[in-house]
Amino acid sequence: MDWRVDAKKRAALEAVKHVREGFVVGLGSGTTAAYAVQEIGERVRQGDLRVLGVPTSHQALMLAVSCGIPLTTLDEHPLLDLAIDGADQIDRELNLIKGMGGALTREKIVASAAKQFVIVADETKLVEKLGVNHSIPLEVLPFALPIVMVKVRELGGKPVLREGKGKVGPVVTDNGNFVVDVDFGPVDFLSELDVKLKLVPGVLETGLFVGIADVVYVGGKTGVQRLVRG
Ligand code: A5P
Repeated sequence: MDWRVDAKKRAALEAVKHVREGFVVGLGSGTTAAYAVQEIGERVRQGDLRVLGVPTSHQALMLAVSCGIPLTTLDEHPLLDLAIDGADQIDRELNLIKGMGGALTREKIVASAAKQFVIVADETKLVEKLGVNHSIPLEVLPFALPIVMVKVRELGGKPVLREGKGKVGPVVTDNGNFVVDVDFGPVDFLSELDVKLKLVPGVLETGLFVGIADVVYVGGKTGVQRLVRG
């Protein structure tokens, strides 16, 4: 599926058009957001743009540094002009599942701090209903893992602790926590499920991003679709 690389790049280029001189920008994680970070870096390097970035992960931080994007923190800039990020599933109302890269908590915090939240993805991410053939990632405090597994099963989910690649044992997030991927099947009531999951002690964040995205750029085989929250 080589076309996906071009589709992701095209979507990323559209998103970067939202960046203006002097903006403080949330820098998302994952392969698609990385193209946006690289493009911002390119414009910074050429002297066309002055921005400050707030990275959502070690990946985004290291990439931004290598691209020459000056960084800041939420301590210095609690309100951001814009955040650009990827997604794992996107429905017609622009609700999202995120977190396959394990960066969901910082991603949601950065998104919540941004005046505008722009998503970049290729068209394989567009679905009729979130949760079809896709789990919902949760960031979980390691101490709470056993009881979180029980509570999540009581809510009707099938939880699986995410295992690391290139490391034995579980994935450990940038915040030092575990990730549990929960299969709920197709989800009808997204906000309700999100609230129930957030109320489980030890669940630090969910990968459900409900009513947060403002604009989504979806790269296809030829062009880019722009979806705007109604
Ligand atoms: C990281 O935790 C995720 O939320 C990513 O933004 C998401 O997985 C999309 O990644 P890709 O652009 O690599 O598909």
